[in-house]
Amino acid sequence: MDNNVEKDIESVLLTQEQIRQKVSEMVRRIDTDYRGKELVMIAVLKGSVLFLADLVRGFKRPLEFDFIGVSSYEGGKVSTGVVRLDKEIAIDIKGKNVLVVDDILDTGRTLGFVKHYLQKFEPKEIKICVLVNKEVNRAIDVDADYWGFKIPDVFIVGYGMDFENNYRHLPYIGILKR
Ligand code: PRP
Repeated sequence: MDNNVEKDIESVLLTQEQIRQKVSEMVRRIDTDYRGKELVMIAVLKGSVLFLADLVRGFKRPLEFDFIGVSSYEGGKVSTGVVRLDKEIAIDIKGKNVLVVDDILDTGRTLGFVKHYLQKFEPKEIKICVLVNKEVNRAIDVDADYWGFKIPDVFIVGYGMDFENNYRHLPYIGILKR
């Protein structure tokens, strides 16, 4: 077994440094917008974990976070079109300002589903924060309130994003070899 997954990467699309800078910018924007408000982040497993971990470490203000588990790609490159709920939220979001955090907004099916699911707990508001926004692929009318990078229709891995459940641990975002 080859021990280095980097040989499968065609090129680096977003470096660690670019991501780090962008995450800091996003923290500043969110911090300003949520001044004087309660903030509850709901991160979408599993792709969001690296982004969430870097994002929350940028704040000094109080905040709460929890996870929701949903999936629709089943490890592959194409959305199955069916979003499956794998894990429910475990905190009370009634009357709260919820910020949904995910790695990528692609067809919009995942975040459309999550928004609809969270709505039934009667939060005060739901906003969406993603690192990567792939607008060209949208199938559902859902938009990000905060996004880091707009990218073209390329299949990316790393920084939480997987192919067949691998490559999530790469600290940068890369394009996989065919
Ligand atoms: C990925 C990603 C987003 C979603 C975006 O999740 O983490 O949640 O797809 O795609 P969409 O806008 O087309 O719905 P996936 O279903 O692969 O599960 P994972 O996070 O566990 O990898």
